[in-house]
Amino acid sequence: MPAVTASAPGKIILFGEHAVVYGRPAIAVPVTQVKARAVVSAAPGSAAGQVLIEAPSIHQQAYLADLPADDPLKKALTLALEHLQISRPPACKVRIGSTIPVAAGLGSGAAVSVALLRAFSAFLGHPLPDDVVNALAFEVEKLHHGTPSGIDNTVITYARPVFFQRREGGNLIETFPSPQPFTVLVADTGVPSPTAAAVGDVRRAWQQDPPRYEALFDRAGELARAARKAIEAGKPHELGPLMDANHALLQEMGVSSPELERLVQAARTAGALGAKLSGGGRGGNMIALVEADQVEAVSQALLGVGAARAFMTRVEAQG
Ligand code: PMV
Repeated sequence: MPAVTASAPGKIILFGEHAVVYGRPAIAVPVTQVKARAVVSAAPGSAAGQVLIEAPSIHQQAYLADLPADDPLKKALTLALEHLQISRPPACKVRIGSTIPVAAGLGSGAAVSVALLRAFSAFLGHPLPDDVVNALAFEVEKLHHGTPSGIDNTVITYARPVFFQRREGGNLIETFPSPQPFTVLVADTGVPSPTAAAVGDVRRAWQQDPPRYEALFDRAGELARAARKAIEAGKPHELGPLMDANHALLQEMGVSSPELERLVQAARTAGALGAKLSGGGRGGNMIALVEADQVEAVSQALLGVGAARAFMTRVEAQG
């Protein structure tokens, strides 16, 4: 059995964070410059059924049977075996690596699940189709987040923009075409910021002044809809002002920070078409829309004002 390799990208929220919690639409896009990778190879000397999992970046090496049931790697492999109705896989080694920063809102957990499901099922001779990979990765997400929306596993499985809206009786999750590629810089403030804390603060503020926050959420939802139209129409440069407007709303929601402001301003001054915080806010990452020939100047500006890391990603053209 030849070794099989599969990979999956990270993700960022382009529009609509926080408002999405209150039923307004959001857009996420894949981040292909960072990746999770899984390699599955035969282990001829070992007994059938033995699956050795190696994840050097998190210092993990264990047999599948020895991992606890709530281990996300075990969950992904077990779901694949159950789906394929295989009780005793051939002896093999599963090696996992990732360049996606962890706990940074970049979807590293979902990307590992997707890469693992693809490589393992292909090694077993039954590569799973995307809809099954997506559904199984969603089950693994429940271990990471409890009540995941499903946006991370979807954008990462299909590696294309996703339009998402929470709805009673079933969320709306749609992939959509992006006929023109565009370039986004992702820069990290270096300030860790648990998403749950920012989400809790927004909830308290909303409870104190519902009309004001509902209006902010409405405007964020309108921006996400306008952004989808611009992407679908092949006019991604129109996203710049929409990003600036979304950032202003997030400021008003109280989730920006001095570090985020410094990076957003520096990106705009260096020529970005638009910039905003991305994800929970308070710290974490910001994103900037840039023309290909501005990547270097804007990256240098971001690093110059203290970004811990900056990297570029391209949202590729998809029909
Ligand atoms: O930081 P991330 O990518 O996990 O995004 C958080 C997005 C929020 O809207 C702030 C929370 C949520 O659950 O949607």
